[in-house]
Amino acid sequence: MASLYLSCATSTTAASRHPFLKPSHVITTHAKPSHPLHQISCTSTTSQNQNDDTKPQGGKVVDRRNVLLGMGGLCGAANLVSGNTPSASANPIVPPELNKCGTARNWNNGGKPLDDINCCPPLTTDIIDYKLPPVFHMKIRPSAHRVSAEYMYKYNLATDRMKRLPADDPRNFMQQANVHCAYCNAAYDQPGQGALQIQIHKCWLFFPFHRWYLYFYERILGKLIGDPTFALPFWNWDHPRGMTMPPMFVEDPRSALYDRKRNQKHLPPAVVDLGKTDSTDTLQLVSNNLTIMHNEMIRCISDPLDFMGARYCEGSEANPGEGSVESGSHTVIHSWVGDPEQPTSEDLGNFYSAARDPLFYCHHANVDRMWYLWQRLPNNKLPNKRITDPDYLNASFLFYDENAQLVKVYVRDTFDNRRMGFDYERIDLPWVDYRPPPQAARTKINKVVDAPNAKTLFPLKLDGVVRFQVDKTKKGKADEILVLENITVDASKMIKFDVFVNDEDDNPSELDKASYLGSYAQLPHKPRSGTTSTSSRIRLRLTDLYDDIDIGDDDAIVVTLVPRHQGPGVTIGGIKIMENPTKPNPTAAAAAATVAATSSS
Ligand code: C2O
Repeated sequence: MASLYLSCATSTTAASRHPFLKPSHVITTHAKPSHPLHQISCTSTTSQNQNDDTKPQGGKVVDRRNVLLGMGGLCGAANLVSGNTPSASANPIVPPELNKCGTARNWNNGGKPLDDINCCPPLTTDIIDYKLPPVFHMKIRPSAHRVSAEYMYKYNLATDRMKRLPADDPRNFMQQANVHCAYCNAAYDQPGQGALQIQIHKCWLFFPFHRWYLYFYERILGKLIGDPTFALPFWNWDHPRGMTMPPMFVEDPRSALYDRKRNQKHLPPAVVDLGKTDSTDTLQLVSNNLTIMHNEMIRCISDPLDFMGARYCEGSEANPGEGSVESGSHTVIHSWVGDPEQPTSEDLGNFYSAARDPLFYCHHANVDRMWYLWQRLPNNKLPNKRITDPDYLNASFLFYDENAQLVKVYVRDTFDNRRMGFDYERIDLPWVDYRPPPQAARTKINKVVDAPNAKTLFPLKLDGVVRFQVDKTKKGKADEILVLENITVDASKMIKFDVFVNDEDDNPSELDKASYLGSYAQLPHKPRSGTTSTSSRIRLRLTDLYDDIDIGDDDAIVVTLVPRHQGPGVTIGGIKIMENPTKPNPTAAAAAATVAATSSS
């Protein structure tokens, strides 16, 4: 099927953009499981249909303007490379040489190796190119909060069998966990590229790599219980009903799904804190979470790479930049679950150990689902969501499949989840319309006009809350982005900071407001050398925020940076506002459609 860009009519919640409704209203509205096709009704439409502001959909009048206006803004640490246009020619990342797999390291806060970890897989020279098998049965991945007792029994049994496989069987649970460690903690070099490591985080490989990883993990589980239809559950942390750790992972210490290395203060009924605000107000947390999801999925995206992550090819340094979900909700869930009593937040709070917690796969199924949903969300400012660069399509990885056969797989085969044989249960998406309410009165920046100009402050060591002015390119509303450049972080630490614009209430535990622009977050990891890692820059789109805060004819904005981690750890080289360089590109869209038609037929 050639038609790809599904345009989805989304139902409008009572809370959407209403300044006075709090999360309780959202929970009420969405408490009832919806019909599978209720929440997103997808029809293949052409993009001009998306220009209708208001259109009856399934018997409801949907204010699509709210949805569409939101497309293209800020947010959760975006990135870095503009557009789909290949820059310097390079080659795709190629698989590691397993016989050269080296020591992976975990770093403690002092910057010294805490321990050396052998997470290398068993060796073999027998590698085959993987061909996606025909799909006879579509697996439907279920929400982890809604599964049956029978499902839990099967999942537990399969995981238990995986844990009991011989230690050197590549399908053994620990071997599977090590796959993540090896690709994330610098165990592999790029073949022929000296000491450059292979790193599948903080770049455009993030979604495809993890999709393949879960694909084989799921097939191994299915094989071990003789059920090829077995589908992994997803942790629905983007919905109020899913904002606690799923019960099946926490209730029984004897279960194969249990892991004792988790933050004991965050067991149910503790509510997920995607903003890492430490707020104790449950309703505030839910409202923050929905705002963050709206920002990461919709408001912040002005370029496909803002969502997918920055370009990364053979010969590239690791960590060019993560997409909005990777840097935001994904990373924060890792650290929210990880155990602060462990030396470096094991298990989920550190890359090398993350996949030792069975909850990892359930978390990542939802991360994968965010990609799946993003592909299907309407977006009139972003007609082309496909990256067509051959350096992307032909990037490849190695995995052991359910028969313990080593296989080589390609990024290009991941774009269509149904071709890979799985789909997701349809659940309400209350964040789709959860754009923060416009600020009623115009924010008076003269109130804070004595804030220093950024020019006098940078490079800036971000050790506490800081507020300063940044000059705009034009007065008033303009299509602009905020760029934070040369961000250097202490790689041994969990890092997060938030960005606010013309924020006057100084209540940093509230993120559900128009002045919240976006965030940057990272988990501890090991860079190739030293203990710091540099991202080139993050880009946060301002255009929609200007609509929401009534910027007037100001020629500067006031930016507030709020760190959420303890102590020092971040230096920002510079900050500036530029015109948004990304314009819709019809040629690229046509090329993408061609690729899509080819790869999904
Ligand atoms: Cu590969 Cu959530 O990390």
